[in-house]
Amino acid sequence: MYCVRKIAEELYWVGGNDRRLALFENIHPIPRGVSYNSYLLLDEKTVLFDTVDWSICRQFLENIKAVLGDRTLDYMVINHVEPDHSACIEEIILRYPDVKIVCTKKAFMFMQQFGFHMDGKTIEVEEGHTMSFGKHNVTFVSAPMVHWPEAMVTYDTTNGVLFSADAFGSFGALDGKLFNDEVNFDRYWIDDTRRYYTNIVGKYGPHVQALLKKASSLDIKIICPLHGPVWRNDFGYLMDKYDKWSRYEPEEKGVMIVYATMYGNTEAAANDLATRLVEKGMTNVVMYDVSKTHVSYLISDTFKYSHVVLPCVTYNLKIYPPMLNYIMDMKALNLQKRTFALIENGSWAPQSGKLMRKLLNEMKEMTILDNEISLNSTMKEDDVNSMDDLADSIIKSMK
Ligand code: FEO
Repeated sequence: MYCVRKIAEELYWVGGNDRRLALFENIHPIPRGVSYNSYLLLDEKTVLFDTVDWSICRQFLENIKAVLGDRTLDYMVINHVEPDHSACIEEIILRYPDVKIVCTKKAFMFMQQFGFHMDGKTIEVEEGHTMSFGKHNVTFVSAPMVHWPEAMVTYDTTNGVLFSADAFGSFGALDGKLFNDEVNFDRYWIDDTRRYYTNIVGKYGPHVQALLKKASSLDIKIICPLHGPVWRNDFGYLMDKYDKWSRYEPEEKGVMIVYATMYGNTEAAANDLATRLVEKGMTNVVMYDVSKTHVSYLISDTFKYSHVVLPCVTYNLKIYPPMLNYIMDMKALNLQKRTFALIENGSWAPQSGKLMRKLLNEMKEMTILDNEISLNSTMKEDDVNSMDDLADSIIKSMK
């Protein structure tokens, strides 16, 4: 059975949801599933904007057929070639053999790399090129590295719809509710939107800034991303989040404590610090066990909070492996502009503080507080003053 929604005059959502997939890109947990959005315009010409993941191809084909009726498909605009959006391109070509594929030169190259057969069917476009489908005229805007180098977004100058590719997307399946104003976004969606952005596109902040600059000159009425809700109002909220994330500015003054513990002793020290922070008035504190929390959630909150405390046991004279993985992921995603406090623990040769400091120092604009704490096996009465001083230093550094 088809399942589509009308977005505007002549424009339909023809995507679908996958609630079975456990790991997006086979790495990021998606307990709320994910949507793959595709859009179909019925103008004098019929135009499909991107396809979907293979997992929902059957639903997708039914949706297209239902909206097209007796008409054929004239164009397919491919904004992004990652397989979660391009997997059904050949299937579309098989069913609509006269379709023309509109994409960038690099997108064409990637499609060939993935083994798609499209000879003689492609129309290459680049930044500033326009096309008319009848009433609707579109402009193509290149968006390299948001999230792959071939990416572009397409702006319909007739109705102000921006087909934004991965930009402004989110993890999370759509429970019938397609539009941002049909959900309580700040309550139910922002965490998955942040986790999607930071882990998928977070590395490319300057490229996202470049796209935001281009978008600011457009009169946008609707944003149609490839994942998650379609936006038709409250753009300021979304743009503000994207602006902060892509400049690596924290959303909130707060302390995220990510601890690595083997038997609970480093965790006890982390609890002590959290309690001191709260008693001193800093109540915006969150704590995570690095071994129990998937790193994608840690990355997401590290983009959110201004301060990060890393209490870490020493393991084989090195940083505890899950903590090392977290720090290396931060580095890979180009995270910047955070203040760190370090607590190391070790029963005979604590090393993790020194090693974490070295890694953090290799990242851009990171501040590491001087008063690092070194514990031998457990926190004791003798450590109370240093822990209290550390809590004071963290709060002082927020002013
Ligand atoms: Fe949803 Fe970069 O693909």
